[in-house]
Amino acid sequence: MYAHLIGTGSSVPERVLTNADLEKMVDTDSEWIETRAGIKERRITSDDEWVSDLATEAARKALEHAGMSPKELDLIICATVTGDTTMPSAASIVQYNIGAGGATYDLGSACPGFLYGLATAKAYIESGMFRNIMVIGAETTSKVVDFTDRNTCILFGDGAGAVVITATEEEGGIMEVEMESDGALGHLLYLPGMRQRIPVLREKDPVPLYVKMQGNDLFKYAVKSMADSSVKVLEKGGLGIDDIKYLIPHQANIRIIEATAKRAGVPLEKVLINIEKFGNTSSATIPIAFDEAVRDGRIQKGDALVGVSFGAGLSWGAVLFKWY
Ligand code: UT7
Repeated sequence: MYAHLIGTGSSVPERVLTNADLEKMVDTDSEWIETRAGIKERRITSDDEWVSDLATEAARKALEHAGMSPKELDLIICATVTGDTTMPSAASIVQYNIGAGGATYDLGSACPGFLYGLATAKAYIESGMFRNIMVIGAETTSKVVDFTDRNTCILFGDGAGAVVITATEEEGGIMEVEMESDGALGHLLYLPGMRQRIPVLREKDPVPLYVKMQGNDLFKYAVKSMADSSVKVLEKGGLGIDDIKYLIPHQANIRIIEATAKRAGVPLEKVLINIEKFGNTSSATIPIAFDEAVRDGRIQKGDALVGVSFGAGLSWGAVLFKWY
């Protein structure tokens, strides 16, 4: 059996936070944000809007697109590090909202979480364990960003994307996977939240609920790891750059995207970029960009694609797949 993506959907909050808005909140300027990060605006949830709300809307759209009933799902995986609650999982809340059956759990691997979800779905389907799986990437990063910290608050946004994956005998679908982590570099990007076990973090960090990031260091690791993963996953699949329609990179910074593409030898016209509209939505960047491109026709049936991401862990990876 092969794991084919057969439906996509996405959802972002209505509220737009522009660079001009941020100028009124922290010591920054619109031009700096646009030139240094490539972001013009991002979407921000209201106080009573949660990850499960965005994920539910994306899930409904993906099911409709796939022509599948929620009851047919065997499993919902929601990749998120900003779930409404630590428990139950966001995936369970989505299951209830859409009236699905099957199993649910959240996958906590920050930005590459959606790709790791695709890898998991591939393994389940190829082993014969499940037939129909929904993978969601959904985040409300605005709820864990310190809006007095200009190093982070200008970058992040909220959103969700979902795909429906099914078992078919037709070759293709999720073809190859490349995944790696380096836990020694975890201090470069972290969100302590309730995980207060590590005394050094507890002492250092008087505001435990916010994302802390060493942007400069991350930048270098991001470019190297995403470029290398893209090349490796293509090699595994026996394909070259010319064989893929698009590289769909994690949208963390336009300069990271451009440098990654250059290092991997991918021309920019083959790279999906939407960071200017949504900023960094962590696990949701890739499924949102994928959904946009499928729905506006840039991605067509049979197109080969590489999704590549990088983030906290540090963790990174790439997935080579074909749209059904
Ligand atoms: O999701 C995956 C994980 N995240 C990432 O991969 C993020 C990776 N890192 C980045 O995107 C970039 O490092 C940032 C966008 C965070 C920062 O850009 P940079 O070009 O690396 O800037 P920098 O940290 O080297 O700072 C350059 C200057 C500094 O001023 P001085 O010391 O040169 O006077 C900063 O204080 O820019 C200043 N600066 C700002 N100025 C205006 C930093 N943030 C801002 C800001 N507005 N928001």
